[in-house]
Parts: sequence; structure tokens; C-alpha cells
Amino acid sequence: MPARTDAWWRGAAIYQVYTRSFADSNGDGVGDLPGVRAKLPYLAALGIDALWFNPWYPSPMADAGYDIADYRDIEPSFGTLADADLLIAEAHDHGIRIIIDIVPNHCSDRHPWFLAALTSEPDSAERSRFWFRPGRGEDGSLPPNDWQSIFGGPAWTRIATADGTPGEWYLHLFAPEQPDLNWTSEDVRAEFEDVLRFWFDRGADGIRIDSAALVTKDPDLPDLASHPSPHPYEDRDDVHEIYRAWRAVAESYGGDRALIGELWIPDAERFTRYFRPDELHSAFNFPYLCSAWDAARLRAIIDETLAIHAPVDAPATWVLSNHDVDRHVSRYGRADTSFGLDRREHGRPVDLELGTRRARAAALLTFALPGAVYVYQGDELGLWEVEDIPAGLRQDPIWRRTGGADPGRDGCRVPLPWSGAQPPFGFSPDDARARPWLPQPTGWSELTVEAESGDPSSMLELYRAALRIRRREPGLGDGGLRWMESGESVLDFVRDGRFRCVANLSSDAVVLPAHDGVLLQSADLVDGLLPPDATVWLRIGG
Ligand code: NOJ
Repeated sequence: MPARTDAWWRGAAIYQVYTRSFADSNGDGVGDLPGVRAKLPYLAALGIDALWFNPWYPSPMADAGYDIADYRDIEPSFGTLADADLLIAEAHDHGIRIIIDIVPNHCSDRHPWFLAALTSEPDSAERSRFWFRPGRGEDGSLPPNDWQSIFGGPAWTRIATADGTPGEWYLHLFAPEQPDLNWTSEDVRAEFEDVLRFWFDRGADGIRIDSAALVTKDPDLPDLASHPSPHPYEDRDDVHEIYRAWRAVAESYGGDRALIGELWIPDAERFTRYFRPDELHSAFNFPYLCSAWDAARLRAIIDETLAIHAPVDAPATWVLSNHDVDRHVSRYGRADTSFGLDRREHGRPVDLELGTRRARAAALLTFALPGAVYVYQGDELGLWEVEDIPAGLRQDPIWRRTGGADPGRDGCRVPLPWSGAQPPFGFSPDDARARPWLPQPTGWSELTVEAESGDPSSMLELYRAALRIRRREPGLGDGGLRWMESGESVLDFVRDGRFRCVANLSSDAVVLPAHDGVLLQSADLVDGLLPPDATVWLRIGG
């Protein structure tokens, strides 16, 4: 079935809930689903259309929930299935859709399948759901190939047999606690289609597919060093069969369940293959997130993104931050404003005032672009990256597996500040028995929801106003844009319905084009001019 042009995900504003750090209702220092339920009025008033939840399933939390032990239940520290049912129903009552995260590439090493594989023989049906292989070298003490874990170190771990002697090795593209599933196995395929139905039956409106392009592997598991193209585990042709089958499952629910891929694929042509009419509906746009705060670069990325999506009739998506990257207030306050997963620039000077100013401008730019937008929890408060978490409290496997060389992602996952003058800032109840699972900076007292609410100069009120306008403006969301002639460091475009967006990334104030009114601005105009690092939304052509 071709993509429906009025589908909700095409222009949605989607808010990413990192449950662990959103709101803790029971005082154990960990966010939970009743905590999210209690904040649904806040989210509804923010003006978002859908919530995307990072994995909420039972998990030993070796990778913050991306190591799933049971795909059909809720992590006990987050609540119960009954809580999830209530949350979905109440969100729907608020007109908010629910997107859940599905992780097909790997499960937890405590998943019953993996536990069964460990106690089964080589070549057994239980082991064939994973990638077990004998080691190389005389005594099998060398990994089966040269693949490296994305979190650092080898992508293989050797198991012990029942009598304690070393046995086979298993593949894990991420942490050892995340064994890769083998998608040549019929069990695996059938299981995930069933998991999709399980959640669609419970009312989920969409699925975010984790590491979507990594899922299938060359069954020969060749060394990367000696392997010619195509890549043995990234973006293989056979991965598409999986998503076609998933699309069929989604369509069987009437065509408004969204399939959204996490795709880090630089090649435009290969990227768009995922949006064939019987595959995914949309995917994240990482070049935009990684871009420096630079008008020419951003414009090139915007143009390329729109050009890639147009022929396949998929909506573009725009995202500034998520749970894997340094928060953009900090990124935009550094000397180098670009970002790469392999270079988190912690410890460098950060001008938070400048970063915040740019983050405000970036929000208005982003929300004016054609397609869907994602807001990562805390973006709306202007939270910065917490770079000084003590080593002993850090939890990210990236930190551990790189021996601290890479600070990892804890700094963007710190629990939200809701109210009050000191930690836990209303994240946990007053009588909480535990501290928040990561420490909050005391400086966040100025960035609580309470402190920002009603303050016209706050990030929160900017987000509220912008999302409200974005919702009611007929030209915003899905559609196209037309660039207007502008100075080289200015991004100036119109959308249908008399809407114009001007973002000034230069170091000089610029004259505004003729307009009938100002809808919203990220910074005060100075003598009618748009100052540096500011964006304005204009009503035009009346
Ligand atoms: C991508 C997720 O966004 C990240 O948080 C996770 O660690 C990896 N996939 C592995 O599941």
C-alpha cells in the first residue's frame, strides 16, 4: 500500500521519553510509567502529538534497557503491564500517540533464549538463534573473526561449558550482555512479528526500530579486513525482507501504525531503499543532528534530506538531540559545534549562554522545516550536557568498555528537573528513599519546569509557543519549502500559508524581509533587526 499522504507521522511533533530519567513516582530514584502518567497533562500542554519510549521492557540494564530480557512485559522498576495499558489509554485520551522501541538486533544475555543457548550443545536449535562459533587458533582462544564491538573491544565473547572449560564464542555488536540474534532463524522472525502484534494489540501506534540497518549478517561471518563490499553486517540487502514482513503486520492493523527506523546510513540511495512502499514509513535524520551550527552546512543538509525523501514520498524527520548524543545546548556552545558519536567533546570550554541562545534559534528553525520533529526530554528546558558525573556513578557501557576514553552517554540522561531549588528537583517525591540514579547539577534549579513556567524568556515557554503555532499553522509540518534569497549565513524560507522563517547564523544583525507580523522569535529584535544566532517566524503576504 502506498504511504498515506495524511498519515499522522508525516508532520508529527514526537517527544522522546527516556523513562528512567523522566519522573520517579515511587521514590526509588528511577523514573517509571506512573511518573509519566502523572505528567501527561504537562506533555499534552506542551503541544506534542506522540511519545516515543526508549525500551521499557524487563532488562538487567547493561545498556539502559537496550538489553531486553522479555519483549512482552515492563521493566519492574518502571512498573507493570497494567501501568503501560493505563498509560497508553490515558495518552490516547489526551490525543497523544505512543511509539515504542523494538530492538531486533540483539536481546539480553538473560533472555530465556540466550540462557537456553548457553546450556545447549554447539549446532543445537537453541544456539542457532544467535551467532555461536568456535574460536580460531589451536585451542580456539582467538575470536572467530575481527569484528569489533561498537561499544569498544572485540565483538565476540567466549562462553564456558558446563564443566568450566572454555567453549564457543558468540557475537555481540554492542556489549557482551547484548548477544546478536540470528535473523536467518525462523524462530527469530516469527517471534518478532508476534511481539509487534502483542504491542499493536495493546494500542501502540508505532515502532521505533533500534539499529535497524545492522540486523542481518553475512552467515559466513567473514573478517572485515579482507571483506570486499558489500558490508557483512551493515545495510545488507536481506534486511529489507524483515521490514516488509513487519509492514504487513502493521498494515493488518489498518494502516496507521508507524514503522520508524534508526538508520545511520550515509548513502542517500541506499537510505531511501528502506522507504519502498512496502517497508518503513520514516527514519531519523542524523546528518542534521551532527551538523555544525553553520548556515551553509545546514542548508546543504536540509536540501539533501528533502531531495532524498521526496521521490519516495517519505516525510523528513528533524532531531537536535537524543539519548545517545551530547545535548545540543552544550554542543552549540563549544568552539567546534559539530558532533560525531566517536568524538564527544567533553572537558572543552562551553559557553552555555551562547549554546542556549543557539538552541533557541535551532528549535524554531527545526520546527519550521517540512516533516516530523523529535524533541528529546529536557530539550524544552534547555538542559545542558552534564560532563562532570563522577566516574563511580557512570553507568554507560561505552564509558566502561573504552576504559573512560569515551565519556559515553550518561551526561544526556540525567533525570529531569521539575521543581524546587535543589536535587532531586521534584524528579522523585520529597520522601524518596533513594537519590536519582544519576546526580543532577545544582545549577538546574533555574531550569526546572516550575522555574520556567510563565517566564516568557524561558526555553519552555518558547517550546510551548512554537509547538502551539506549529500545530495550528497549515503550512507547517508535512509539505515543502521555498528558499528565499538571503545572505550567506542566513537561512530564509517560506512555507505554504503565509509563513516565513528567517534564521540568522551570522555575527551581524540582519534586516527582516517585509512581513505582516511576527509570530514568534527566539531572541528580541534589536531596532527591528534580527540579531545573531536568532530565528524569527513571520506572517507574510496578507
Ligand atoms: C541505538 C540506541 O539508540 C542506543 O542507545 C543503544 O545503545 C544501541 N542502539 C544498542 O541497542
